[in-house]
Amino acid sequence: MELEQRPEIEALMAERRTFPPDPAFAAQANAQAGLYEEAERDFEGFWARLARERLAWDQDFHTTLEWNLPFAKWFVGGKLNIAYNCIDRHVENGLGDKVAYHWIGEPGDTRTITYRDLQREVSKAANALKELGIGTGDRVAIYMPMIPELPIAMLACARLGATHTVVFGGFSSEALAGRITDAGAKLVITADGGWRRGKPAELKPAVDHALRETPTVDNVLVVRRLGEHANIEMVPKRDHWWHEIVDRQSEDCPPVPVDSEHPLYLLYTSGTTAKPKGILHTTAGYLLGAGYTHEMVFDLKPDDVYWCAADIGWVTGHSYIVYGPLANAATGIMYEGTPDSPTWDRWWQIIEDYKVNILYCAPTAIRAFMKQGEQYPAAHDLTSLRVLGSVGEPINPEAWLWYHEHIGNSRTPIVDTWWQTETGMILITPLPGVTTTKPGSATFAFPGIAADVVDANGEAVPLGGGGYLVLKRPWPAMLRGIWGDPDRYRATYWGRFPGMYFAGDGAKRDADGYLWLLGRVDDVMNVSGHRLSTIEVESALVDNRAVAEAAVVGKNDPITGQSIFAFVILRGGQVGSEDLARVLRDHVARVIGPIAKPKYLMFVPDLPKTRSGKIMRRLLRDVAEGRPLGDVTTLADAGVVDVIRSNTGKTEE
Ligand code: PRX
Repeated sequence: MELEQRPEIEALMAERRTFPPDPAFAAQANAQAGLYEEAERDFEGFWARLARERLAWDQDFHTTLEWNLPFAKWFVGGKLNIAYNCIDRHVENGLGDKVAYHWIGEPGDTRTITYRDLQREVSKAANALKELGIGTGDRVAIYMPMIPELPIAMLACARLGATHTVVFGGFSSEALAGRITDAGAKLVITADGGWRRGKPAELKPAVDHALRETPTVDNVLVVRRLGEHANIEMVPKRDHWWHEIVDRQSEDCPPVPVDSEHPLYLLYTSGTTAKPKGILHTTAGYLLGAGYTHEMVFDLKPDDVYWCAADIGWVTGHSYIVYGPLANAATGIMYEGTPDSPTWDRWWQIIEDYKVNILYCAPTAIRAFMKQGEQYPAAHDLTSLRVLGSVGEPINPEAWLWYHEHIGNSRTPIVDTWWQTETGMILITPLPGVTTTKPGSATFAFPGIAADVVDANGEAVPLGGGGYLVLKRPWPAMLRGIWGDPDRYRATYWGRFPGMYFAGDGAKRDADGYLWLLGRVDDVMNVSGHRLSTIEVESALVDNRAVAEAAVVGKNDPITGQSIFAFVILRGGQVGSEDLARVLRDHVARVIGPIAKPKYLMFVPDLPKTRSGKIMRRLLRDVAEGRPLGDVTTLADAGVVDVIRSNTGKTEE
């Protein structure tokens, strides 16, 4: 783990303009400055008050927090059901006809799903799961495109107290198999496929492939999305069509009350090893954290149309398309496809058509829109927008200002939200109407959250200093562990700085106390807001017979934030070529998924290593960035970097 002095940081902080809240916005804002103080005075009391006010309990909790560092239990003794909290109570409160999702298929087909529809569909799906032998505590893997049955499937699991693990549809069958096996899933819910850039993209064949090596799965439930546009096989007895089994179920399925700490879901994410970690989130604290931040950070109002343009396969979709918004009875947009299909104004058309008030997306998307030009948003009426959000990677001031001007009409507040799969909820963010923003800074910790920046010894750095981002007290939506591996949980997050959660990010705090996220300081890359491990990509490369050794680093990229740069040593007898580079890229796509394909791949005769044999990625990053080399004194063979530098074997996709 190295804390690099990144030259781009100075550029990032060079933007000096600040954006105070508009008084008219502040006057109507959900969040008030006093929240910080209230939460600081008694953070447990703060969360306890919110938990009682905001959640519907079958049984009240007796203890707000049991903190046995690093293991937290929140709202101990309480019982509740998430599906009830996200659906039924809203129907009971007269919101049955309120739209939960405006769903838009990529080809242009639409569905409107009210809270009453959701109650019916989730109940039927839950009854179908029961018929397939699923009950409280079982694990269910979900591998689906962005169609309404995806949140319905998640909520059906939650209704029964089954634990879901959603696998992003862009992951390969091998990646899916690994997650199914680690989770011990009994059932897979999938679809024949979905629409992507105007073409059918099949999913079911990847499930078939994955299930060859997953003994725990008894049944597969398949939604028909592509119909005649897909050519899939159904395995007798194992595979069931959703419309055949779900449609005939009763609409009545009582929600099962579960403990506050009952496992709600696992979500696999890349760490610093080849094996993704199953991040465990539980019930009450997670729902409270997701719901409360959703209402405060986005200033959600009852009549708002809210759009989080992430995929539900990532944590952003879990917390801010499904659980947070539904806990708040929000009306959300769900869009199946890509922003460029059929043209680069698809999002702006959707915002105009549905009068979207809140948009939440990743800087990568904003930079891609910038590249296409402002004529696309300019052709649409975006005046309905009131709040804009950013998530997943640092947003550069240029993209922030473009977002502000061309999407937000130089008027709407922007919330740059920092958080992680592990944190479950937004932890560092401006509060719209309260916080004066600075483009490129995620500003301050959310009320009740104790974020700090520390040096290598765990000492807080003074204002103006840089270091490691840590969290110094538990929060309700925090991960409860890594599935099946408590030691890894302790070592990964709580081992670096005793008593503190180490996020893996570098951060700087400026003279005014604003936090500036500097990116990962470990072997994790962030490509288009997708989190990938260098070691995972390396082991996928080495898995190919042609490869002897590989080293992967993230290279700065003007659109995707980072791109993957792979240095590859071939086995004897193999010769590097464009063709072989293509074969290796495809191999990585097969092992992990297309998002993990190295954009740059360079065949090299050797790699820079320390005398103890450790690859010096820092030097490889210097080579990838084309900048002067850092310290080479610890290299076993200092000549090797020059050899790499003068190398012509670089290929680019
Ligand atoms: O490096 C940080 C970056 O994304 C990482 C978490 O990735 P993931 O678990 O996939 O969750 C992404 C969506 C919540 C963090 O460790 N990151 C996330 N948001 C920001 C960010 N970096 C800078 N600014 C952000 N707003």
